[in-house]
Amino acid sequence: MATKKRKKEVGDKEEYSIYDLPGVGEVTAEKLIEAGFDTLEAIATASVYELKETVGLTESQALKIITAAREMLKMGFLTGIEVLERRSKIRRITTGSKNLDTLLGGGIETQAITEFAGEFGSGKTQICHQLSVNVQLPEDKGGLNKSAIYIDTENTFRPERIMQMAKALNLDEKKVLENITYARAYSSDQQMLLIDKVKEIIREKNVGLIIIDSLTSLFRAEYIGRGALAERQQKLNKHLHALQKLAETYNIAIVVTNQVVAKPDIIFGDASIPIGGHIVGHTCTYRIFLRKAKGGKRIARIIDAPHLPEGEIVFSITNDGIRD
Ligand code: GTP
Ligand code: MG
Repeated sequence: MATKKRKKEVGDKEEYSIYDLPGVGEVTAEKLIEAGFDTLEAIATASVYELKETVGLTESQALKIITAAREMLKMGFLTGIEVLERRSKIRRITTGSKNLDTLLGGGIETQAITEFAGEFGSGKTQICHQLSVNVQLPEDKGGLNKSAIYIDTENTFRPERIMQMAKALNLDEKKVLENITYARAYSSDQQMLLIDKVKEIIREKNVGLIIIDSLTSLFRAEYIGRGALAERQQKLNKHLHALQKLAETYNIAIVVTNQVVAKPDIIFGDASIPIGGHIVGHTCTYRIFLRKAKGGKRIARIIDAPHLPEGEIVFSITNDGIRD
């Protein structure tokens, strides 16, 4: 039967492929693949609405194949061993600073969202630039040997700076730039849409990292005042969950930046808080605060990390990039 052959083409590791789903023939399979649902994982984590809208399935068809995909993958409940196996696929990207890597437990993690929050000039965008270079390094040099997607909401992406960082690592500057897929987002809706469309690029270009610099600036600019807060938070929540799903489905690292605003009612301690409140704080796996220190140094602090000790380290931004 032709099914066997297709299984190998489409499914990556599982014994089943999307062609084994009930009612999925040649035509439906093609539609699914075209819409980016080319693995059982992608279908199992899709919503009925998504499959209805993007693939044109009926509600009952969509529900049937999502349920079947989940069963094939034994989703919903996992054994401890299965969780361990999924987590064993987590990889890390070096930041360029040993201190910062150590703070992060070895670098930026795949299957997770890492948030860098801090005031202007604290180094958020510089870290984003550095990571989109470093993800391309071979694994033994702290990379993933994969490419990056860079979503820029503030028009601060600089190819010249990427080339400078690439050169410092003896990488081919043009190749490094080619391996960064760039999109400028002008509205929060567009920012969310870009993430919806990103699946195709992830597969095509072997993506290991998605950057959003900044996660919150457009939301903050568009939803002004108390009345708009609930809607803003709802959208941010949806956006972050889409990102988390991508991270887990494709084993990629997601890095977002966030500015901080002064908190008027705090007199002692840290007087600034990241935008986006609890929703951003709780959904991101790691939250790192950056601040400027004397002599061009930067201080990074990690809080609320699931299994890392809280701590502070110093790193610097040099002409070569992020270093100790
Ligand atoms: P906002 O986006 O404004 O909130 O700030 P940010 O946190 O993104 O700051 P960013 O990463 O843009 O940091 C800017 C700082 O990085 C500058 O003030 C410089 O100190 C440093 N920097 C940027 N480019 C270079 C460079 O080529 N060489 C060196 N040595 N430092 C640089
Ligand atoms: Mg910036």
